[in-house]
Amino acid sequence: MNSMLRPIDAAAADRRDFTRYTLWFVYSCIVYSIIGFSWGSLMGGIPEFRHFVNFTPHGHLIVLAHAHINLLGWVEMAIFGALYYVVPKLTRKPIYSLRLVKTHFWMHNIGLIGMVVLFSAAGIIGGISTSDDVEKQVSHLLALVGMFGTLVLLANIIWGYNLFRTSMGWESIDAE
Ligand code: HEM
Ligand code: HEM
Repeated sequence: MNSMLRPIDAAAADRRDFTRYTLWFVYSCIVYSIIGFSWGSLMGGIPEFRHFVNFTPHGHLIVLAHAHINLLGWVEMAIFGALYYVVPKLTRKPIYSLRLVKTHFWMHNIGLIGMVVLFSAAGIIGGISTSDDVEKQVSHLLALVGMFGTLVLLANIIWGYNLFRTSMGWESIDAE
């Protein structure tokens, strides 16, 4: 909240910011779906690509990157955006914390992009490298996937907490 604004202006600015972030979840969902679906089409449609992911060592990690950009990008972003809209409308209460919405947005995006980039890097390096160290390199990259995945998990908990706190006490508002 901007401390230079009057309380009414500040509340309106917060509402606008909340709408902006909710829409950013929707836009992210659109962008990730286009990337994820194109990725799937290329992976299924180009024989060399399909061969790479199915028959090279660790090539399947690239399928996991495709799966997770779709699941964490397209599916989850849509659910986040929809429920940020639905819960305040349903309970007739403003979102509990705008700051947590912003934190959730950035943490989820950073975690998801990190996971997808590192899954892909592990799949490509695992598939083309002839070094003796390749197993070690892949396992280090997968450990990093786990760290970015933890970020995604924490972001999800923040989202759930924020919606739960928003919905608390809805009966007293409804009785007014
Ligand atoms: C135009 C859209 C899509 C296309 C063309 C596509 C294509 C593919 C292809 C070709 C594979 C198999 C790769 C292989 O092992 O040879 C695959 C795997 C997979 N896709 Fe997609 N995909 C699409 C959208 C999605 C969406 C929206 C999701 C999830 C919401 C998804 C989740 C998965 C998962 C989980 C796998 C791995 C399945 C397994 O365990 O082998 N895909 N996709
Ligand atoms: C914190 C976030 C997540 C992390 C760190 C994560 C990590 C992983 C890992 C490491 C695997 C590979 C397991 C293996 O075969 O060795 C995997 C597979 C899979 N995950 Fe996730 N995951 C996350 C979230 C999700 C979500 C939210 C969904 C669905 C909505 C999902 C759906 C799947 C599916 C369908 C597979 C199997 C894909 C295949 O076999 O090709 N994951 N995940």
